[in-house]
Amino acid sequence: MSKVIFENVGKQYLTNWAVKDINLTIENGEFVSFLGPSGCGKTTTLRMIAGLEENSHGKIYFDSDIVSDPKNKSFMLPEKRNVGMVFQSYAVWPHMNVFDNVAYPLKLKKIAKDQIKSDVEGILKTVELAGLENRKSHELSGGQQQRVALARGLVMRPRILLLDEPLSNLDAKLREKMRKDIRKIQQDLKLTMVYVTHDQKEAFQISDKVVVMNHGKIEQIGTPAEIQKNPVSEFVADFIKSGE
Ligand SMILES: Nc1ncnc2c1ncn2[C@@H]1O[C@H](COP(=O)(O)OP(=O)(O)OP(=O)(O)O)[C@@H](O)[C@H]1O
Ligand SMILES: [Mg+2]
Repeated sequence: MSKVIFENVGKQYLTNWAVKDINLTIENGEFVSFLGPSGCGKTTTLRMIAGLEENSHGKIYFDSDIVSDPKNKSFMLPEKRNVGMVFQSYAVWPHMNVFDNVAYPLKLKKIAKDQIKSDVEGILKTVELAGLENRKSHELSGGQQQRVALARGLVMRPRILLLDEPLSNLDAKLREKMRKDIRKIQQDLKLTMVYVTHDQKEAFQISDKVVVMNHGKIEQIGTPAEIQKNPVSEFVADFIKSGE
């Protein structure tokens, strides 16, 4: 696990700022959610942590290591960052069984077969999929497929796990269960997790800290209780009210 620090980070696409002048520290082992309307820069921020997008301004650190500093032409490639990602579309491969889906990132790294077997079995236990190793993904429920994606994100023992609206394809009941499961796994493994959601109820329920964004900027950072009790701007107050 790692601490993540954003120092005056911006991302510009031609004349459009997707993210502007963000300052943020995500502590080791913390669960932080990004909350905000469509287009406010949540996914862009996650992709900059993963190194799938390069910030155009500012610096990003993992602990004391600089991972991106465009001014000094410093950029750590995504494959060197050891960051796991889980997306809204679970992107599990339908032709592969559960074991192979989860083993995939380890195979890419050419890890020894025995090690892969024990790592995959361990993580499948964590996400409660033990015994389903040989099932093809299309033979799984939506929630089970989401667990496969989660296991694949966790199997590399990432420094940081990023989740971009991972539950939005699930029905309300399953969302509730998976949300609790994700939080438990995060606490058990003491992982740094960054979670993106439109759903404020979800963000407030699951997070140590919530970051409310609007138009590429951070409106407020705080614990769920702080933000609910003391919204710092009209935008935050309205946003919270609108989701009640
Ligand atoms: N590759 C790109 N080229 C140009 N503009 C982009 C690109 N990717 C994102 N943007 C713009 O950057 C802004 C932030 O996009 P981003 O995907 O981060 O939003 P988001 O908060 O994740 O939204 P959503 O909740 O809809 O997923 C948007 O205005 C978007 O149109
Ligand atoms: Mg997005």
